[in-house]
Amino acid sequence: MCGIVGYVGKRNSQDILLEGLKKLEYRGYDSAGVAVYTQDGLQIKKSKGRLANLESKLSDAPLRGTIGIGHTRWATHGKPSDVNSHPHTDNSHKFSVVHNGIIENYIALKEELIASGHVFVSETDTEVISHLIASLYDGDIVKAVQKAVTKMKGAFALGVLTEYEPDKLVAVRLQSPLIIGVGEGENFIGSDIPAILEYTRNVYILNDGEMAALTKDGVELMTLEGNFISRELFHVDWDIITAEKAGFDHFMLKEIYEQPKAYRDTMGARIDAASNKVVMNEIGMTPEHIRSIRHVHIVACGTAYHAGLVGKTVIEKLTRIPVETDVASEYRYRAPIITPETLVIVVSQSGETADTLAALREAKRNGARVVAITNVVGSSVAREADDVIVTWAGPEIAVASTKAYTSQLIAFYLFGLYLAQSLGTQDASYIADVVAAMQEMPNKVEAILAQADTFKNAAEQISTHDNLFFIGRGLDYAVALEGSLKLKEISYIHSEAYAAGELKHGTLALIEEGIPVIALATQEELFEKTVSNIKEVKARGAHVFGLNAEGETELAKVVDEVLTIPATLPLLMPALSVVPLQLLSYYASLARGNDVDKPRNLAKSVTVE
Ligand code: F6R
Repeated sequence: MCGIVGYVGKRNSQDILLEGLKKLEYRGYDSAGVAVYTQDGLQIKKSKGRLANLESKLSDAPLRGTIGIGHTRWATHGKPSDVNSHPHTDNSHKFSVVHNGIIENYIALKEELIASGHVFVSETDTEVISHLIASLYDGDIVKAVQKAVTKMKGAFALGVLTEYEPDKLVAVRLQSPLIIGVGEGENFIGSDIPAILEYTRNVYILNDGEMAALTKDGVELMTLEGNFISRELFHVDWDIITAEKAGFDHFMLKEIYEQPKAYRDTMGARIDAASNKVVMNEIGMTPEHIRSIRHVHIVACGTAYHAGLVGKTVIEKLTRIPVETDVASEYRYRAPIITPETLVIVVSQSGETADTLAALREAKRNGARVVAITNVVGSSVAREADDVIVTWAGPEIAVASTKAYTSQLIAFYLFGLYLAQSLGTQDASYIADVVAAMQEMPNKVEAILAQADTFKNAAEQISTHDNLFFIGRGLDYAVALEGSLKLKEISYIHSEAYAAGELKHGTLALIEEGIPVIALATQEELFEKTVSNIKEVKARGAHVFGLNAEGETELAKVVDEVLTIPATLPLLMPALSVVPLQLLSYYASLARGNDVDKPRNLAKSVTVE
């Protein structure tokens, strides 16, 4: 889960590599480095910590040259340190490698190389790659890389540069994302498109098992076995501004405010306003196939998993098909019962999460049809699933996911309604009511954002505590889990989310005078039960912030402070009630002086198991 960038052309590569790494810092930011071919040969500069450390090293002693590779790291093998940072090299210092992924057999390879005289300086698996390539080189870097990858097991995207062929970059993709940017007299490598978008809009997206040799004048695509591939260029028509902060202090806040647009875009043409029906042309399943579904498995990680918990209730309620939601890192190992009658829905903002991808492959191996809900067109998950529902949230840069989560909820509502339409499990009038209510959601989110100050005030109060609880029942519980994750992730306040009725089975012991409890009470049917649970914590001294919907007046009588959001159908409530919780986390993190967009120990895209 690192970022790779590479440049060959006429310009000063150091500047282009640094700009690319800035765009990729979300993929990892515990160290960074560049290798540039200069008049003194191959030179490497790297530094532990944020990219700014590397920038200042380079401004003191710039590397001048028109070809180079760069890397921003999120440590997997070996702690963050200068020596463990990429690029890595071999004993001759003639080869340099940047790598994203994991080499599973690196210890065995390292032992073989040590036995033949290689000396290692770092603890990383990547250093093994540079030694391996050096040991296999006999005048052709492309061939040496091809031979090296046949010996490597695991997941990797590589950028390789050797002093022996200083006009050529080699790029390799096996299970970790990599793209090639094609310019005029210059070419690029990037872990993703924004890394190179400032320079070109023409890209090749490498598939698994493919590689490329780049010079300033051309790009050759080939398989790892060396068979040449011809492919159409993909023209990127996004606006670079969408990947920048647009006046907000942080990407996270910008992304929270982008939610009304993300809802509108994700619904977009999928709602036929004339009939209030859902249209999903991207779903290739036949009506017979839909009728054959006996169970649904939803598999995802983190925030996407929390969206899947809402998805379970939505699909079960609308279709009466049983749904299980699993954390992807657990799914494969519990020997899930997957049959051709199972529909597996994988949810992933990035579409590159290793565990989610592995779950997808496990599902396909067992004959299930896989639907992916993802935010990244062309991602690994999108390419391997049978059907893809793209959430049109736009690039999400902040590590803490906000608009991707709510767009995933919208995707679940749409897909649940689509299944219900196909199966006839709900009256057309009920479906029309839900669709009509969904169309009002963007305006309702705008209304919540307009009262951000109320949530800021509550956030400042909770920011002085070290522990707190979120409670709720039904869909409120699913949202409480997400609210709690968000708060932990960026404010570093310890919090737990509990099904409100479970408190008295142990957790009440932790409720003491003054502890903040955020109680979600938006589900009409469960309202009275939730109020009883609120009274249980109040009686033990908790300071309760209650979240309810407009028009409800009883909650104010039992809680200390009420946070009110617009009303909607209970089923749709999660797509509104999570927004104040996102704001609470944001402002609590800010009040504690944290780096909101780049919380410690985390990375945006987790491409290792
Ligand atoms: C939390 C967060 C993570 C991701 C998780 C899955 O804010 O963003 O929990 O949701 O790592 O990532 P994707 O959705 O890219 O598979």
